[in-house]
Amino acid sequence: MAQQISSGKQKPKATTIEDWARSDVYHNSFLIPQDSVLDAALKNSAANGLPEIAVSVSQGKFLQLHARAIQAKRILEVGTLGGYSTIWLGRALPEDGELITLEISSKHAKVAEENLSNAGLSSKCKIIVGPGHESMVELPSEKKFDFIFIDADKPSNVKYFTEAKRLIRKGGVIIVDNVVRFGRVADPEQSDPNIEGVRSLLNALKGDKDVDATTIATVGEKAYDGFIYAIRN
Ligand SMILES: C[S@@+](CC[C@H](N)C(=O)[O-])C[C@H]1O[C@@H](n2cnc3c(N)ncnc32)[C@H](O)[C@@H]1O
Repeated sequence: MAQQISSGKQKPKATTIEDWARSDVYHNSFLIPQDSVLDAALKNSAANGLPEIAVSVSQGKFLQLHARAIQAKRILEVGTLGGYSTIWLGRALPEDGELITLEISSKHAKVAEENLSNAGLSSKCKIIVGPGHESMVELPSEKKFDFIFIDADKPSNVKYFTEAKRLIRKGGVIIVDNVVRFGRVADPEQSDPNIEGVRSLLNALKGDKDVDATTIATVGEKAYDGFIYAIRN
């Protein structure tokens, strides 16, 4: 693509969210079949008044493929909402796998419980209700996780990441969602607690020898956003 642009064969085009939405739907139509259980989870979440802030379909599939690729047996998620990402991740687990997901809202947790039960994942996926950081601190570092997905309140990103480093095995993966925020994180004129939560994490990661990390864009149907992807050294 870069070569085509520099050789003048394909002119760069300013893209809009509509372009990305169309692309997301187009690619998903080939790669991700309709799924009545995931659709029902979103429907039940909306019917119960949960905000529509779950990961996108392609992000969910990416998380699942990634968990499978690293043969994750123990997964930790911070920020359950209605369990949409939890279902994608839970389905990546082997028979004896386990997922723990942390959620502060008992209302969200109740809906997630219903959705996980409908997905046949209740035995593998356990929801802990309470402030995510407190719940993480209670988890023993002897039982390491292979994969940790951080997707809760953004101002607490550094606290979550610090605990995640304690809980993840060497070579394990930590992914943090919503780190680009329509490009606002990199725009010095913009600030809010969520943006600052991401900036603090980036600052904490700068020169951190415990992990190797990169940001990968996750432009999709609803947002220009991104994941921080980190491997524990
Ligand atoms: C973006 S949503 C999670 C979406 C979910 N991972 C998905 O993709 O389906 C963030 C969730 O984090 C929860 N949350 C917010 N603050 C929290 C905290 N301090 N501890 C634990 N969960 C928290 C919210 O209640 C919300 O359900």
